[in-house]
Amino acid sequence: MTSDDNKKEGIVVEHLFKSFGRDRVLNDVNINIPPGSIHGVVGNNGSGKTVLMKCICGFMRQDKGKVYVNGAEIGKDEDFPESLGMIIETPGFLPNVSGYKNLKILADLRSRVGRQEIRASIAKVGLDPDMRKPVSKYSLGMRQRLGIAQAIMENPDVLILDEPFNGLDKNTVLKMRKLILDLRDQGKAILLASHNAVDIEELCDRVYEMEIGVPPVSVPGKNKAVPCSEMHIFR
Ligand SMILES: Nc1ncnc2c1ncn2[C@@H]1O[C@H](COP(=O)(O)OP(=O)(O)OP(=O)(O)O)[C@@H](O)[C@H]1O
Ligand SMILES: [Mg+2]
Repeated sequence: MTSDDNKKEGIVVEHLFKSFGRDRVLNDVNINIPPGSIHGVVGNNGSGKTVLMKCICGFMRQDKGKVYVNGAEIGKDEDFPESLGMIIETPGFLPNVSGYKNLKILADLRSRVGRQEIRASIAKVGLDPDMRKPVSKYSLGMRQRLGIAQAIMENPDVLILDEPFNGLDKNTVLKMRKLILDLRDQGKAILLASHNAVDIEELCDRVYEMEIGVPPVSVPGKNKAVPCSEMHIFR
């Protein structure tokens, strides 16, 4: 590996552009999240946070620019990042089977983890791995916890967390914040979108603010999102 490749560890986004018709959603987005750090992305509804995350996961193709995850260029070296866990918007699960069974089916697609790791990740989010109740009978918060368990079960190097605390009660939010900080300390590169200022303040080493049609601006340090309203607004 060359020293240049090393720079692309974690999540690296370079000059990313994405439009839908005439609407430019991502306009020259640049991000560099090294292993062992959490970066936050904030911004109004519709400002492009989820679109950015989908591009990083390989679910959506950008018009221009590059995404690297752990040194591999997404869409070129690999279609989807090799070692990435994510929760994007509301997680979708098979309604008629248990939480464990849902995760087992997903884990079997890649055969990287088995029963033990799945059970451990379900327990980590405070659910009972033996609960037989089908997911259709889960509460919103239970479903969200299962989504977090799914994101972490393969012990990925990179995590994309889009509003991961949606619908969680206060105590669970505290536990999940601690879990995410532990993952950072284990060396994961984490991108977190949240509308909750406290999540951003407590978790993020750096914050990007997305504003519709303008490039996000970031500064190092806690809760230091800088609005970029002086830049040209496309719509
Ligand atoms: N598949 C798509 N086709 C067309 N437009 C899309 C598509 N996906 C997203 N958009 C548009 O891209 C813009 C950004 O959407 P995105 O979901 O990224 O916003 P967001 O910042 O995540 O908002 P929120 O805070 O509500 O989650 C919106 O105008 C949305 O309508
Ligand atoms: Mg979103």
